[in-house]
Amino acid sequence: MTGIKIDGKVIAQSVKERVRKAVEELNTQGVNPCLATILIGENPASATYVKNKHNACQEVGIATKDHKLDANITQSELSSIIDNLNSDSSVHGILVQLPLPKQLDEFTTTSRISPLKDVDGLTPHNVGLLAMKKAVLVACTPSGIMEIFEYHGINLDGKNVVLINRSNLVGKPLYHLLLEKNATVVTCHSRTKNLTEFCQAADIVITGVGDRNKFTLTPEMIKEDSIVIDVAISRFQEKLVGDSDFDKIIQKASFATPVPGGVGPMTVAMLLKNTITAASLSSQIGR
Ligand code: GUN
Repeated sequence: MTGIKIDGKVIAQSVKERVRKAVEELNTQGVNPCLATILIGENPASATYVKNKHNACQEVGIATKDHKLDANITQSELSSIIDNLNSDSSVHGILVQLPLPKQLDEFTTTSRISPLKDVDGLTPHNVGLLAMKKAVLVACTPSGIMEIFEYHGINLDGKNVVLINRSNLVGKPLYHLLLEKNATVVTCHSRTKNLTEFCQAADIVITGVGDRNKFTLTPEMIKEDSIVIDVAISRFQEKLVGDSDFDKIIQKASFATPVPGGVGPMTVAMLLKNTITAASLSSQIGR
């Protein structure tokens, strides 16, 4: 028996349709949602991701502002660009594409963004709200994964979920979102002992390592009929791959995401949704 392939493109399309309608509604109120992106340096993968985000904005009628900055920019120069965007009332969302060049500090950079324009949900304010079950803007990949569960009617109540990622962008926000849905969540990482035992006990495994030379999630590591969400994307043997081989894992899992075409499109769709939320917030407080 093979499981069900989770088609992130189809689910993302349904989110985009809702966003498109919300954009039209905001337009009638005189608000033209706008996302500003900041890309620093020449990382080709980051450049592709930012381009995809711009294209998706265009598809749903969200305006964009594109800032491409020199790889050697200083922290204070970057901070003043963010400050300008924070006070620009025509900009509703600000996204600084990660990772950053070495001279820049991720916390200093992301926490400079106004929490009201923080479409990545990375500011201390929004992270705190999420931990207190009061989230407004949540990191895009985790909320995209929650949307996948919702779309497929997957009930998380009492489920054992193993996360193989502890990053600010993925593992930590997911932990809170899953806990809110009454899942039992275990966060595993590079120092976890007996990772296979945790995975074999899990109803759902969400993996995001992104280095096939170090880690592959194999069918032997999962329980029959479990659900596998593969967040990773990396280049391996000339191909874009996740942490698992979809064709193999789907023989044992009840649901699984392919790479590409699984979680990736959801991340972009949720960014659009967050931009609309940020635009609504700004319009409510008259900025
Ligand atoms: N780099 C990889 N994923 C993301 C993301 O969701 N947001 C930002 N800003 N950078 C990323």
